[in-house]
Amino acid sequence: MKIKILMVCLGNICRSPLAEGILASKIDSEKFQVDSCGTSNYHIGGKPDIRSIETARKHGIDITNQRATQFKVSDFDTYDFIYPMDNSNYDDIIKLARNEKDKQKVKLILNELHSNEDLNVPDPYYGGEQGFEDVFDMLNKACNSIIKKL
Ligand code: 4NP
Repeated sequence: MKIKILMVCLGNICRSPLAEGILASKIDSEKFQVDSCGTSNYHIGGKPDIRSIETARKHGIDITNQRATQFKVSDFDTYDFIYPMDNSNYDDIIKLARNEKDKQKVKLILNELHSNEDLNVPDPYYGGEQGFEDVFDMLNKACNSIIKKL
């Protein structure tokens, strides 16, 4: 059985597609599966934001095949680790948890880098290109921590 990891943001077009692409580039796909989704239904079926696609491409990662999906309660059964990008995504997922086991799967992604600080990966949607580069850098470091732990 593969270990399954789910990256979660609001729209599933900016932050979590980058998180999925970065982690996927570091893992053995025979042993691990990584996916992403959004808590909202805003962009279901859509491609990642062009700025996320370009930022990933600059770092040698292709995320163009990803399509946005929405988080669903059965994801608690499918995935072993669920990583929301910010506190708002965290709260939205925890509200859907059915029991303590579901809740224990959910951890803010930057807490893998800065334990218990509850920092947000800032939403770059309304900002410029540099915001996406900053998000990439944070997620790259967090994914390196995740890899060490897996
Ligand atoms: P994401 O960014 O949660 O990192 O994918 C956003 C994308 C779209 C919207 C908000 C955040 N939106 O409001 O459409």
